[in-house]
Amino acid sequence: MSTQTVETDIKVHRIQVVNRNQEYLCRDDKSLLVGMELQNTQAIEVGCRGGGCGMCKIRILDGEFEKKRMSRAHVSEAEEGEGFALACRILPRGDMVIESDHFEPAQ
Ligand code: FES
Repeated sequence: MSTQTVETDIKVHRIQVVNRNQEYLCRDDKSLLVGMELQNTQAIEVGCRGGGCGMCKIRILDGEFEKKRMSRAHVSEAEEGEGFALACRILPRGDMVIESDHFEPAQ
């Protein structure tokens, strides 16, 4: 039996959550939300973790990122243009500055 070596090239980025005055480190293969949970930090509200509930809505103020599909029910095209996003659908590609607590329950 042979041992298989798995090469990993995972980068870690610093995520600053300005409105909560907190920061944490997030791997680039994890979403901002899961990365936060792995660090036992509570800087973003956690819900479904799958882009469906809108609880983790944030505004991205600075930084590079990769965006997965997001529900238009929670982030409109106009909002997306203003930097709003769902933290469970964003993967960091550099250090980021964000603002959490943008979830608005449906009326
Ligand atoms: S946790 Fe539900 S949309 Fe992100």
